[in-house]
Amino acid sequence: MITGGGYQGKTETACEIAADFEDDWLDLHHHLNPAAVAGTRDLHAPVAYVQTPVTAKPKSTCKAILSFYGAGTKNMDLPGLVRQVAASINDHGTKALLLDDITRLRMHRADDQDVLDLIRAFMSMHVTLVLIGVDIPGSGLLREGRHDPRTGQWILPPSRHARVHGLEATQTERRFGLIELDRFRYDTPPQITAWAQHLAGVEQQLRLMDAAPGMLTGGTMPGYLYRRTDGVVGLLERVIEDGCREAIDTGTERLTQALLDNVVLSLAGAPGRDAEAGEIPAVPPGPAPPAGGDTGKRKRGRNTVFDDRGPASGTGA
Ligand SMILES: Nc1ncnc2c1ncn2[C@@H]1O[C@H](COP(=O)(O)OP(=O)(O)OP(=O)(O)O)[C@@H](O)[C@H]1O
Ligand SMILES: [Mg+2]
Repeated sequence: MITGGGYQGKTETACEIAADFEDDWLDLHHHLNPAAVAGTRDLHAPVAYVQTPVTAKPKSTCKAILSFYGAGTKNMDLPGLVRQVAASINDHGTKALLLDDITRLRMHRADDQDVLDLIRAFMSMHVTLVLIGVDIPGSGLLREGRHDPRTGQWILPPSRHARVHGLEATQTERRFGLIELDRFRYDTPPQITAWAQHLAGVEQQLRLMDAAPGMLTGGTMPGYLYRRTDGVVGLLERVIEDGCREAIDTGTERLTQALLDNVVLSLAGAPGRDAEAGEIPAVPPGPAPPAGGDTGKRKRGRNTVFDDRGPASGTGA
């Protein structure tokens, strides 16, 4: 399980790692499915990545997984869906199943047991299960788990039901690690170095005509960017992206604190994120407005490059 705050790069990091694993696995097996059934031509998918639907229930979660495989789900009840998930994972040679935004699964008292049993059912399939979500410890998903201080792992005891969603319940407990992906911190020298290294990496990717080396890493810039973003990578990306657009629009072609002061961070309506599941982090207040009332701040304007301003006026033509 991978937990952390919203916008902290959980999805990006997990997908990078999964993609590397898939490349290695395919190379290792010469791009063939080592468990292929003779005479069949199932698509080989070593990694399956699925986003949990907003306000998900066990059934819709299974349907989301099956739609990754393009498998049918018509008129199936929950046990049927779970069996079909197990069959699809097996048929497609899937080794890692990533379920992102798992904390969208609502844990209401009535369906708690259903959700936990669904996770048990996934854990019993022959696949490495990776669950990613915002604040997993606070979500109820660990409610029946207990922490083993000896190994640092969590232990999920077997279900008390004889059958779990159509699969035979196993009597084995399931062990898993809980990894926290934290935001950057800015208190100790190693933490500050890590932040500066991240900024150096970002800086190398920027293509502004007037960018000077150390534009993001020199002087008070690292501290300034930290205050603007609280060390959240997703917020940093937004500040930099909006700042670059401003730098291009105004012809400045470089990022400075004065220019970034004009960039107002807002995540309202960020696509593909569920605010109710905590996926939108608090945005730190922007820079203090200069004395005198008018803040001079403006929200990023619309890009006007392709606007049709109408035919040039006839006079003098
Ligand atoms: N290491 C990184 N370097 C640069 N940008 C990054 C990095 N990791 C993530 N980002 C960017 O930050 C933004 C947020 O990342 P991501 O969507 O992975 O966060 P998340 O933790 O999954 O958020 P949510 O909780 O909303 O699902 C994305 O636009 C992503 O491209
Ligand atoms: Mg995500």
